[in-house]
Amino acid sequence: MSAPSDKPLLIVFGAGGHGRVAADAALCSGAFRGVVASDRNPAAWGTALLPGVPVLAPEALADLPAPLALHVAIGNNPVRRQEADQLRAGLPQATLSTIVHPHASVAVTARIAPGCLITAQCVIGPLAELGAGVIVNHGAVVDHDCRIAAWAHIAPGAKLGGAVRVGEAALVGAGSTVLRNLHVGRNATLGAGAVLLQDLPDDQAWAGVPARPLQGASA
Ligand SMILES: CC(C)(COP(=O)(O)OP(=O)(O)OC[C@H]1O[C@@H](n2cnc3c(N)ncnc32)[C@H](O)[C@@H]1OP(=O)(O)O)[C@@H](O)C(=O)NCCC(=O)NCCS
Repeated sequence: MSAPSDKPLLIVFGAGGHGRVAADAALCSGAFRGVVASDRNPAAWGTALLPGVPVLAPEALADLPAPLALHVAIGNNPVRRQEADQLRAGLPQATLSTIVHPHASVAVTARIAPGCLITAQCVIGPLAELGAGVIVNHGAVVDHDCRIAAWAHIAPGAKLGGAVRVGEAALVGAGSTVLRNLHVGRNATLGAGAVLLQDLPDDQAWAGVPARPLQGASA
């Protein structure tokens, strides 16, 4: 008879499409003894996020058997940060956990903080650093020496050249390109498909090729 697994049970918080991506990556990784989901929306309770991944009410999480891991799977950066703070206060027995899909390529010298999601076909280069709760979405490239601050989102297919810095809670849009050594500011948004040729200031939304400020766009 085999010994019971000492791997944690993973709670994926956020029962939407992004939660499905996180739960799937967690199942593929084999790093957890099981995966459950939760959400604040009562309509999701009792449903399944994926086959075998039930969605529980937040009140039910405290009764789950230890050890527990927690991953906040909400695409909106400020909301993800806020939920992580709130859940960690209410569920101190759960460790904020990073999920790495087995088909991601992560350099052995990369430094990854807790709560990140690194999905399939991503590349994280040598000496790259990811802060807490960063999302590196399908097929994105975070090249050598990049520094991505907490709660930022590198969207599917985005490419960051070497030593790019991305500020806290910034969104680097799907399929965009950031040339090496540039800085994407805190809470900034780079639109889908943009090519960034100069630094993008804090709190601004830029888009296009080459990227320019979007008048009146929401960052
Ligand atoms: C740039 C962005 C934030 C703007 O969103 P918004 O504030 O809602 O702006 P709107 O959709 O009202 O568009 C405003 C203007 O910008 C243009 N625009 C919007 N997104 C653009 C983009 N990615 N590239 C070029 N132009 C863009 C619109 O055509 C519009 O132009 P107009 O005023 O001449 O009609 C958004 O379109 C975007 O690209 N977000 C990134 C999405 C993404 O990659 N998410 C990750 C999913 S996993």
